[in-house]
Amino acid sequence: MNKKEIIELLKNNDKELFSRANDARKKYTGDGIHLRGLIEFSNICKRNCLYCGLQSSNKNITRYRMSEDEIITAAKNCTCKTIVLQSGEDDFFTTSKLCKIIEKIKENDVALTLSIGERSYSDYKEFYKAGADRYLLRIETTDKNLYKKMHPKASFENRKKCLYNLKELGYETGTGSLVGLPEQTIDSLADDILFYKKLDADMVGIGPFIPHPDTPLKGKLQTANFELALRMMSITRILLKDINIPATSAMETINPNGRIIALNAGANVIMPNATPLKYRAKYEIYPNKICTDEQPEKCDICIKSKIASIGRYVSEDKGFRTKNN
Ligand code: SAM
Ligand code: FES
Repeated sequence: MNKKEIIELLKNNDKELFSRANDARKKYTGDGIHLRGLIEFSNICKRNCLYCGLQSSNKNITRYRMSEDEIITAAKNCTCKTIVLQSGEDDFFTTSKLCKIIEKIKENDVALTLSIGERSYSDYKEFYKAGADRYLLRIETTDKNLYKKMHPKASFENRKKCLYNLKELGYETGTGSLVGLPEQTIDSLADDILFYKKLDADMVGIGPFIPHPDTPLKGKLQTANFELALRMMSITRILLKDINIPATSAMETINPNGRIIALNAGANVIMPNATPLKYRAKYEIYPNKICTDEQPEKCDICIKSKIASIGRYVSEDKGFRTKNN
């Protein structure tokens, strides 16, 4: 698929794209759905990403950090085969603190994903040695000018470099985009997909942008972002075939059936929230996040019944990418 074809598919209203992606998902990854339990362990962030509710300029958010014990206990209580540790860029969590947490969690029979932003090559190396298996770092947008506007003082080149460092170190590397940012073009979205391909991303998470009222990008929710994010996701499945693709919580936030629709359009992963209930609502990257007041057991039942309703099943393995193309 070349850029022109990707643009055509993004612009088109054709629903056949979703069934093509669903066929590719079935052929290359099967019917199993991998559950990755997400622990949002700190909402403290030194960055100021314009779109994000955790940005350091947001004074209306109550900040929290989970203790080491709380993080390890949350991981232990989670029944998923993969634990995802996510946070803002919080320097309190030094390399050695994080390595200790990683080692403890890896005493359980789980895969471990980190999603803690940009760190140095040597930090990534230490985390990998401590047992981290995967890393999620969305490129957000490959439009350099837009990237600059959205991320004051941050560097697009460094974010890209981080992704290549992660790949080189042996991590299963995940990236992805925010879809529907102001001034984002279809042309740049096509470039995003080609970037995932060039990186040979092992995971791609695509989320619709949802404006947060306490950020400079506050404004009306654009429900059209859902369809566009879905089209991005489906094309990514067709092009990258065997990778892992989540049905993102942001999709379900702007469409009550969003994750099921995504699972039927190329996705094969769900990330249930495994953050202790008292912290969940405080990790408000965008408003009206789903599952902020659900007990983990209820979440579990809800997700499993949704999966069963579409004739799929929860995978028993850790869900590493099986190169198949
Ligand atoms: N600090 C880490 C990083 O930069 O990768 C991980 C945490 S960050 C909150 C996780 C993801 O949230 C980002 O990659 C971004 O795409 C998404 N996000 C932030 N604000 C959002 C918004 N307003 N709407 C939808 N997704 C958003
Ligand atoms: Fe840091 Fe969003 S600005 S996590």
